[in-house]
Amino acid sequence: MALRTSPEVGGMGHSIKRKEDPRFIRGRGTYVDDVQLPGMLYLDIVRSPHAHAKIIKIDTAKAMAVPGVLAVITGQDLAKYNLHWMPTLMSDTQMVLPVEKVMYQAQEVAAVLATSRYAAADGAAVVEVDYEPLPVVVDPKKALEPGAPVLRTDKKDKKDNHIWHWEWGDRAATERAIAEADVTVKQDIYIPRIHVASIETCGCIAHFDKVMDKLTVWMTTQAPHAIRTVFALVAGHVGLAEHKIRIISPDIGGGFGGKVPVYPGYVIAVAASVLTGKPVKWIEDRMENLQADSFARDYHITAELAAKKDGTLTALRIKTLADHGYADAAANPSKFPAGLFHVCTGSYDLKAAHVEVDGVYTNKPPGGIAYRCSFRVTEAVHTIERMTDLMAHQLNIDPAEFRLKNFINPEQFPYKSALGWEYDSGNYAGALHKAMDTIGYADLRREQAEKRKRGELMGIGISSFTEIVGAGPSKHFDILGIKMFDSCEIRIHPTGKAIARFGTKSQGQGHETTYAQILAEELGIPAKDIQVEEGDTDTAPYGLGTYASRSTPVAGAAAAIAARKVRDKARKIAAYLLEAAEDDLVWEPGKFSVKGAPGKSKTIQDIAFAAYTNHPQGMEAGLEAVSYYDPPNLTYPFGSYICVVDVDKGTGEVKVRRFVAIDDCGNIINPMIVQGQVHGGLTMGLAPALFEEISYDEIGNIQGGSFIDYLLPTAVETPKWETGHTVTPSPHHPLGAKGVGESATVGAPAAIANAVVDALWHLGVRHIDIPITPAKVWKLLREKGVTE
Ligand code: CDP
Repeated sequence: MALRTSPEVGGMGHSIKRKEDPRFIRGRGTYVDDVQLPGMLYLDIVRSPHAHAKIIKIDTAKAMAVPGVLAVITGQDLAKYNLHWMPTLMSDTQMVLPVEKVMYQAQEVAAVLATSRYAAADGAAVVEVDYEPLPVVVDPKKALEPGAPVLRTDKKDKKDNHIWHWEWGDRAATERAIAEADVTVKQDIYIPRIHVASIETCGCIAHFDKVMDKLTVWMTTQAPHAIRTVFALVAGHVGLAEHKIRIISPDIGGGFGGKVPVYPGYVIAVAASVLTGKPVKWIEDRMENLQADSFARDYHITAELAAKKDGTLTALRIKTLADHGYADAAANPSKFPAGLFHVCTGSYDLKAAHVEVDGVYTNKPPGGIAYRCSFRVTEAVHTIERMTDLMAHQLNIDPAEFRLKNFINPEQFPYKSALGWEYDSGNYAGALHKAMDTIGYADLRREQAEKRKRGELMGIGISSFTEIVGAGPSKHFDILGIKMFDSCEIRIHPTGKAIARFGTKSQGQGHETTYAQILAEELGIPAKDIQVEEGDTDTAPYGLGTYASRSTPVAGAAAAIAARKVRDKARKIAAYLLEAAEDDLVWEPGKFSVKGAPGKSKTIQDIAFAAYTNHPQGMEAGLEAVSYYDPPNLTYPFGSYICVVDVDKGTGEVKVRRFVAIDDCGNIINPMIVQGQVHGGLTMGLAPALFEEISYDEIGNIQGGSFIDYLLPTAVETPKWETGHTVTPSPHHPLGAKGVGESATVGAPAAIANAVVDALWHLGVRHIDIPITPAKVWKLLREKGVTE
């Protein structure tokens, strides 16, 4: 895209430095835990050691004797106000504090309120709880077997652990195509439970001002407006009306979907503040965050892919068990309980597809969040990219050639997928060719062949993913009935500087910079002169928040539309000032000139001043606008990643030697920020591919509940990412932009897994579930007689 503004204005396409970074790198950000209020009290939470147990008795006497402890709050206390259960975002229910039984290890059992964090922790340590252990269900397959203990005994008519069944696509056509296929491949794929592990854990400060009758909550939420509405709906009966609730989401140290849900700690802190009239702070520690907050993934998939002999793909069938823990607390749009998993036909022109997903209760924390992906898209991409690779190898066709043969071609866009999505634009072959050229694909294949002769294990893996981001459109997307749109409000001050507020909330993505760049592009006001604010429900226009890479596709579009409304009014004022007809004015970023008389012009700053000092009679003063943008469609970013691995025969260790990532997010607002998003995303893709997993033993003890055994990659494990891009604008987005924040997390795991299987295919290895740990690989190598 050609640059339309100077570096001083800093519109789209300029890699301007992030406006937020001076405060972050000087340690001057304001995170929730930085907020200190006079007279503040502190909460700490008592958690269950059992995965499933009846609560016989909670003895609070010792805790109450700890100096500084003011109260111990139990489920019985909350039950008096009917606040011991709360709705989840998927219209299920979840305990705030239990009255009868606990359902997972680390579940909240009671909360201790004290005058200091230390006193609260000392109190929590001596709350005595008598439990009677109950049978534990950790395996979702076993959970569905007849005779399995029914977990949700709170639901009167519930006779099993099945939550919902959801299916999509043409079952009969898919069955037919699979039956008629020349070749089929079938594979069980488990995508394990993982955790977002953001640097900042979750927390809040609730402050109910009894005089003003107003509740202010500073919290680490990605969706402040939605939270305000949920609080008003859930606690309206105890007097919390929406205009008396203010949610402030200050700086956030990473969200990745984990800061969308409402956690019990938030509700307990609010209840404690309403009862005491004092500010109450609750901040999780690292282990609470890993063990009790919403998880991601946990999909048990069986996939079948069908093709003709010549390698043309024909049909895809997927069955999945979704382990939701003890409550379905995913944050999916209401209409899609399995999120957007049905984008699983990916980048390929498949004529038939059918998907079935069953949600299951187990004794684990609730969740199913969109961890840096647009509602289960990572699971979809991993499945189709593994299956495509499996089929290519099965047919003995090079995986790159196989993809190129089956891609949706550029001239097929807008493309209606077999599962009903309308892809806006794409050039998949363009991205793959660029990735192949960058990495030197042909040479690598030659090197691999030579190494294989010498018995060395080298693999090359490809992932040519398609994402789907930018929820709405509101006709299909809502959360708890609230339609998914987003918003921008702009006010231009008399001196030509501006403030713009949004319904989204950055968690590190750089919105203060990129939104200012969009407005600079549209209005010609330098980005440095535009203050961007998000996250305060008392000031920002209503929006659905930031997750699922929706900020640029939705709020970014709202910014462009609001700016264009401002420009329309500016044109009228310019016509008045220049004594010219509106139609005779030409716009270039930053000024209107009279056609044929370029010297006769008014800058946007002149016009802003006139809007308050010299505007036409009959016109309202001021220069401002708001847009609530409801996108006509989602955007479909894509990319091709190629990964080269070397596998150590002695240890089973996988070393990522090279990784080339070519992304396409349409027109780019800030290339440096996009590159940063891709770097971070790739590392968050490497993590589940090779290291991260949360599992449970047979009695529901968490494995991976601390950073000792939940292995986050550090700089040492992270390879040098080689990034690049192609540009295929979105035809329906006002700026031609698509989202990008999640692409790399979505696309990377399959490239790495495909590379490892490619290295071991000749030994008879067909699939390895992620994380591909040295132990798993070494075991396979031993089975195949390659190592001792
Ligand atoms: O919703 P979220 O901010 O997580 O994701 P996004 O819309 O993909 O944007 C992530 C960051 O990349 C934001 O600062 C965007 O403005 C920026 N971006 C960009 O510069 N150009 C694009 N085409 C897409 C995103």
